[in-house]
Amino acid sequence: MPNHGESSHKEHTPVLANAFIDALCIDPDGTYVDATFGRGGHSRMLLNRLSSSGQLIALDRDPDAVAEGKRLETEDPRFRIFYHDFASLEMAINDAGWDQVTGIGFDLGVSSPQFDQPDRGFSFQHDGPLDMRMNFEHDQPLSQKLKHVSEKELVRVIREYGDERYAGRIARAILRDLKAGELNSTRDLENTCFHAVPKQARYSGSHPATRTFQALRIWVNDEYVQIEGGVRCAMKHLLPGGRLAIISFHSGEDRRIRDLIEAEVNPCTCPPQFPMCVCGRTPSMRWIQKKPLRPSEEEIAANPRSRSSMLRIAEAVAMDRTR
Ligand SMILES: C[S@@+](CC[C@H](N)C(=O)[O-])C[C@H]1O[C@@H](n2cnc3c(N)ncnc32)[C@H](O)[C@@H]1O
Repeated sequence: MPNHGESSHKEHTPVLANAFIDALCIDPDGTYVDATFGRGGHSRMLLNRLSSSGQLIALDRDPDAVAEGKRLETEDPRFRIFYHDFASLEMAINDAGWDQVTGIGFDLGVSSPQFDQPDRGFSFQHDGPLDMRMNFEHDQPLSQKLKHVSEKELVRVIREYGDERYAGRIARAILRDLKAGELNSTRDLENTCFHAVPKQARYSGSHPATRTFQALRIWVNDEYVQIEGGVRCAMKHLLPGGRLAIISFHSGEDRRIRDLIEAEVNPCTCPPQFPMCVCGRTPSMRWIQKKPLRPSEEEIAANPRSRSSMLRIAEAVAMDRTR
């Protein structure tokens, strides 16, 4: 069996890696899904824990990540990569010839190569185009989406996906600068956000563009619809005792994950005043780690991007999982 040397791929340092792999890897002969391949840090660690009969498939919607996955495929016959998003998770599981799997992991958000490449347009730390697509072959870049968005919708996006209290001011400034032809790059967008917030908010806390960049990225990639579809599908395809491990990076993402899992842990829909359950819905999942696990101080010092990461873990319980 190839040994993938867990630190050989430095482009993206996987976060909460040992806890994530410990949570998932309960059977060396099992069948596993890494739903967010990235540069394969977690996939390689998983493969190192599997026996020669264990198998792993991985998904990514980013063509650059898939190219790296193709390289790993040639090195390890137990591994296959799929150029799919979460909406096609079921198709990938079926194409692998499986119905139920031993574990599925999600490590949400962007990878370091996506963030660090200026031409991907994810970051205001570099100047780049208004893009932000994970799948740059199919989806619409930010510049296109902004051409057709109403002020009301843009305020909603920035408020709901960025928890940004100055969403109204920022949305109006974005549309004004676009119309004036002054908003053409990530640096322009940073500048627009900076000047849109009141003076006293410009230098306190995180940079005034941080929340808006996060919100626009979630919008461009339809991330919450993707997460909902992916996590529901994952729970449907776990073997009894199979594990679901999910790393998220901000509270909006984590809340959605908590609620999706909690709906399967406590599925009863009876009104609280009923003395006993009459809806008959029984749990299909149980929490292994309900309170999100966070990185240690040492991990944060070694990899500052792990700072906001949170890991939740749940396990499938035996039941009729076809509903
Ligand atoms: C944080 S990185 C994962 C890093 C990976 N664990 C590693 O160790 O290299 C997240 C990856 O998930 C991918 N991704 C995010 N949302 C996705 C979706 N809805 N469908 C498929 N891939 C997605 C991104 O393109 C990115 O490559």
